Parts: sequence; structure tokens; C-alpha cells
Amino acid sequence: MKILLGVTGGIAAYKALELCRLFVKAGHEVQVVMTQHAKQFIGPLSFQALSGRPVRDALFNAEQEAGMGHIELARWADWIVLAPASANTLAKLRMGLADNLLTTLLLASDRPCLLVPAMNRLMWQNAATQENVAVLQARGYHLLAPAEGVQACGEVGAGRMPEAQQIFADWQARSTAAAYPALHAFWQGRRLLVSAGPTFEDLDPVRFLGNRSSGKMGFAIAQQAQALGAHVTLIAGPVSLPSPQGVQRIDVRSAQQMLDAVQHHYAQHSVFISAAAVADFAVAQALPQKIKKQAGQKHLSLELIANPDIVAWVAQQSPKPFVVGFAAETEQLLPYARAKRERKNLDLICANQVGAGIGFEGDDNQLVLISREQERTLPMSSKHQQALGVLQEIMHLLTQ
Ligand code: PMT
Repeated sequence: MKILLGVTGGIAAYKALELCRLFVKAGHEVQVVMTQHAKQFIGPLSFQALSGRPVRDALFNAEQEAGMGHIELARWADWIVLAPASANTLAKLRMGLADNLLTTLLLASDRPCLLVPAMNRLMWQNAATQENVAVLQARGYHLLAPAEGVQACGEVGAGRMPEAQQIFADWQARSTAAAYPALHAFWQGRRLLVSAGPTFEDLDPVRFLGNRSSGKMGFAIAQQAQALGAHVTLIAGPVSLPSPQGVQRIDVRSAQQMLDAVQHHYAQHSVFISAAAVADFAVAQALPQKIKKQAGQKHLSLELIANPDIVAWVAQQSPKPFVVGFAAETEQLLPYARAKRERKNLDLICANQVGAGIGFEGDDNQLVLISREQERTLPMSSKHQQALGVLQEIMHLLTQ
């Protein structure tokens, strides 16, 4: 895809470098357009090195215009991403001002545009900015709202630009929604419950049994579904991922806590996807103090007891949501996954090979989608793309 990355003046401009890198890494063509204020914060050469294209920054530059005129540039882009979008540029955009290359391009473009505002918290809260953003959204601009936290000016509040990875994932999901209108229509307004990440089973106050799940697969599903218009509740084990915007997140630690959260929420959702790597066993009795090694001790035995099977419990309820499980296998992927689907009475199971370098932790995955009726292997791709395949399969199964 051809992405026009607009960078305006703000300290968050440095994060646009990483965003540019992520777009290029994902195989997109990127043309960076900077305002003069943006160049006070970061040099165009860095963007040129990452995008492989000279940065465009002037409306009245015969040399730049000779390459591709500004109207051509506006037509060239499939998507425009404005990150950071300053309060000043948002105000100009709302008013239809065209006093530099970027604002002129924006006025001359009918392409989808994602605005990623970043500014001081009071500037963001200001009624003028809020009204500008509301008007722009009503006109069809996409908005990724600023994150909360400590700002460059030292104040604390909403106004920080989200991290590049989050902007990239958000854009990816939105561009997908625009590219798959039928899927969007299906998921719009549906309530989806997703579990993600590992569970940690405590041995004592400092040690636990865990696994290598990063939560990426489940978070990708939550994010894609949210971008497709679903109301998503995400029950997350202990992971270090930021929450996808617009998703209701509930953090848990152990399998028992995950079960409690699922039992509390499942009835309000029409689909449950259990992507979490739930520990099958917990220690029989977690100790209140750190286990001490005795002098000369060579062995330590732990008594483990089976954890409740969360996805199987949901599949036993009546009425129950449409239930999707995952199968993580190191051998005999398909026979084990088929048996698991039947044993747990799942409507669909997503089988993935796991082991050193695959399945867990990485950004890519390959799922085999197994339902009562059919089996479909998705090509290896990003977890976001796999998530889309799962959401498509659910749509097919529920509408056939
Ligand atoms: O998080 P990532 O790093 O992105 O990695 C993704 C993943 C490999 C963790 C994911 O794709 C995946 O396979 N998740 C399920 C892992 C797993 O626990 O598989 P399982 O075969 O052990 O369990 C089968 C199903 O039962 C799963 O849906 C699981 O959520 C569920 N289960 C398992 C045990 C248990 N006590 N309760 C459960 O609900």
C-alpha cells in the first residue's frame, strides 16, 4: 500500500521515525511530508534513510514539484497517516486552510486519513481542539486518541502520542475494515470475549509456573475485531502489551482468576475466543513465604493439581456463545487438535504448531482452522492477518 506519512511540529515527531520503519518493514511504500515546524524537532534525512524517498516539505519548491506535483502526491496515496497531528494542523484541517504542503495535500485528498494527535494535555482538553476533532471525525477522518501519561512538558494527562507499534496496529486494523466491508458488516456491534496471554501459577511470593505466551495472538484478535466494529472484552493474563484502543481489558494472573473473569462476562457475549495459554496445572498449595533451599538439598517435589478447563466450561453452558479454542501442539498438530475440539465441544479450534521460534512470542503464525464441517489452513503471515482469518471463519460458520 502507498502511505503518505504527514509529520507536524511536536516532540512526538521522533516516534514517527519508528512508525515509518514499521510501515516499510511491512512492505508498504512511504512518502513522508513534513511541516517546517516538524523539522525543528527532527531532521528529514532520517526519514529519507528509512523510507528511501526524499522528504517533501515545501509547496513552492520547483525541484520537488518537478518530481511529483502536490496534487499528484495527494492522488498517489492509498492512506494518509498524520502522526503527530498538532493542535494547529487539526485546526487548519477543520477550517480548510491550505497554507503549507501538508494542509494543501489534505485538502486535495479524498483518501482515508488517520489522525494521531499529540500535544500538551490542556491543549488536547481545550474546547476548540475537542470541537475540531469531533467535526473532523464526523467528516470521516479516523482518530487514534492520545494516550495518558507523563508528557514531555512534565505534566500528566491525556495528550501523549501512542507508541509507534500501537499506531501501526491501529492503522492496520482500520485499513482492513475498509478493505473488507462484508466482514465489517458482520462484526459491527457484535460482542466478543477474548482471552489472551499466559497464566502464572504462584509457588510462593517470588516464584511461579508460567509459559511463553506473549499475548500477541489474542491481542491481535481483539484489535482486529474492535476495528471491525465489535464490542470486545479482553481478559489478559500477565503480558506487557498495551491495550488495543476501544477494547475493555481485564487483567488476571492465574487460571482461577481467568475462570472467574470469564464466568462473570461470557453471558453478555455472543462469541468467546480462548487464545490464552492457560496453565493446565497449579501447585496444590502456594506457600506464604519464599521456599528456602536447605543445606545439601538435591531435590524439590511440587504437588500439582489440575486447573479448571475454562473453554470447556463455557462450551457446556446453555445458552452458550459460539466457542472458539486454540490448540498449541509441538507434535501431531492435526490429530491432537481435532481430538481437542471434540473433547471440549468447541465450534471451532485454531491449531498452531508451537516450539522454538514458532507460535509463541513471534509476530507471525500459521493457523489451521478446524470446525465440525471443514478444515482450512491459513498461509503463514502476521498474527494480525491470522486474526482476520479467524474472524472470517467465524463469520462463514455463523452465516452459512
Ligand atoms: O501469545 P502468543 O505469544 O502470541 O502465542 C500464541 C499462542 C501460541 C499462545 C496461541 O496461538 C495459542 O495457541 N493459544 C492456546 C494455547 C493453549 O493453551 O493451548 P492448549 O492446547 O493447551 O489448550 C487448548 C484450549 O483450551 C485453548 O483454547 C486454551 O485457551 C484452553 N484451555 C486450556 C487449559 C485450561 N485449563 N483452560 C482452557 O480454557
